[in-house]
Amino acid sequence: MMHIISGTDRADSNTLKVSKYIQSLYKNLGVDVEIVDLREVRKELAGGPHYGKDQPLSLQKEINKISHSDGLIVVCPEYNGSMPGILKYYIDHFKFPESFEYRPVCFVGLGGMFGGVRPVEHLQQVFGYRNAFIYPQRVFLMNIHKTMTDGGLNDSTMCELLKAQAEGFQRFAMALKVAGLDANSWIAKKAAK
Ligand SMILES: Cc1cc2nc3c(=O)[nH]c(=O)nc-3n(C[C@H](O)[C@H](O)[C@H](O)COP(=O)(O)O)c2cc1C
Repeated sequence: MMHIISGTDRADSNTLKVSKYIQSLYKNLGVDVEIVDLREVRKELAGGPHYGKDQPLSLQKEINKISHSDGLIVVCPEYNGSMPGILKYYIDHFKFPESFEYRPVCFVGLGGMFGGVRPVEHLQQVFGYRNAFIYPQRVFLMNIHKTMTDGGLNDSTMCELLKAQAEGFQRFAMALKVAGLDANSWIAKKAAK
């Protein structure tokens, strides 16, 4: 199972709408993908901080999805030149190192004229620092306030880019698994030592 992290807790967010669209692209490819909606996870994070080991069971359930995922698709809006605080706070609750190490991850940004390139590059630093496998083809959804109309993404180029990313990323994650280089193989090897 792969996971889309919808990277904000803002009500009626474009990020969640884009996440649902991306989920439908994976479904068309026959790939099961669950959305992690930070508006929901926020409820589990609220009583925190719960860094490290003493996390309530309900939060552990959310965090365990990440440390068992076949691949993460992070959809991130730009807030004040970076990622939303809730997203970094959530990432800081991930199990270390198993959530990150060798985990396939790809990124979609959304924002104004730069389409979220700044938060995506911050995220690449974070996941790169923690040894994730970063899929190189990123997608930036520019001028999202104009392209997101009637709840849908009305820009054929952007839709094509997302489709190409979904096709490529699921093959990327599968190739890592076949080669025994995926995160879950890494965890199994570590446990066997
Ligand atoms: C708090 C806040 C800060 C923002 N800062 C930026 C910014 O620095 N650069 C940018 O291009 N867009 C910025 N925007 C515009 C958002 O990227 C755009 O509205 C996008 O739809 C937000 O995603 P959301 O609808 O999922 O919250 C900001 C929006 C919000 C709510």
